[in-house]
Amino acid sequence: MARVFSGIQPSGELHIGNYLGAVQNWVRLQHQHECLFCIVDLHAVTQPYDAATLRQRTLDMAIGLLAAGLDPERCIVFVQSHVPEHSELNWLLTTVTPLGELERQTQFKDKAQRLESVPAGLLNYPVLQAADVLLYRASLVPVGEDQLQHLELMREIARRWNTRYGAAFFPEPQALLTTAKRVLGLDGHAKMSKSLGNTIGLLDSPELIWEKLKPAATDPARVTRKDPGNPDICNIFTIHQGFSPPETQKQVATNCRTAAWGCLDCKRVLADNMIAALAPIRERAAQLQADPARVHATLRRGAAKARALARDTLAEVRRRMGLLEGATD
Ligand code: TYM
Repeated sequence: MARVFSGIQPSGELHIGNYLGAVQNWVRLQHQHECLFCIVDLHAVTQPYDAATLRQRTLDMAIGLLAAGLDPERCIVFVQSHVPEHSELNWLLTTVTPLGELERQTQFKDKAQRLESVPAGLLNYPVLQAADVLLYRASLVPVGEDQLQHLELMREIARRWNTRYGAAFFPEPQALLTTAKRVLGLDGHAKMSKSLGNTIGLLDSPELIWEKLKPAATDPARVTRKDPGNPDICNIFTIHQGFSPPETQKQVATNCRTAAWGCLDCKRVLADNMIAALAPIRERAAQLQADPARVHATLRRGAAKARALARDTLAEVRRRMGLLEGATD
């Protein structure tokens, strides 16, 4: 059975872009594969962040993921910094990672240009991401489109390490994308992103969802109510594909193309379906919020399971790289 690994940063709220692009797929995959899902707090500290709120955000992310349907009986859910082997493998992998490839990563360039002083950790970010996956020798990585370049580099790192230290020890991980691999923000321009404030949160109230959807961008060529629209280039239609049943999607597409519906009609149907789909998630989240000790215990158990797997890989990596066995073995 192929092993699956994926991660999410606790750098803000869990939003419907994360959900449709990745997390919904995680929930499905836990029934088919051995899965590990990780809240990557060590990645979150590579950019300016507030130390006073990171702990709560990490817990909130765990609550969001569990509420969205990750079942700790079926998959391992844990926090990256609870398994120190991630950091050790990260270091060892930096020794086979070409600096030029790190400098070429578009996410690095984007983030770096917004900073006055660029920390080395930001450059190293994709190596830590490679360590996350390779530590479990996972071969499938369900992510959104924005992670594909990191996945490509991860494969390169695995290949280089394998060439030097032992053929085919690390599988070359493959990305698993969904149809909503790139959900745009409500502005209709940039990717929906925690840092851009253009999101609908997975736990937003029905009122807030409607308030945000109402003014959201649609097909830019549809200026008046009478203009026919093109669902293929409308972000609202992408979101319909995540939340509305196939018959509704068909109806929406036809009514958009023929201008039988205006954008607001289309959004109202989406809001209804989204609110209905998210209601059980909000309910489960409220139960978990009322019992943080249970969430902590789940994360501790997840870390213990992950760590057992991580230790095995790392022992073999250390051996193959010629490190002298010692107190940690
Ligand atoms: P992060 O925290 O930015 O996002 C988590 C997941 O959500 C996907 N995603 C989206 N998909 C579609 N449309 C969007 N607007 C959208 N926004 C986010 C992301 O592609 C991602 O799958 N570097 C990673 C975290 C990470 C990781 C890993 C992932 C660390 N180690 C190992 C996979 C494997 C990140 O910042 O994701």
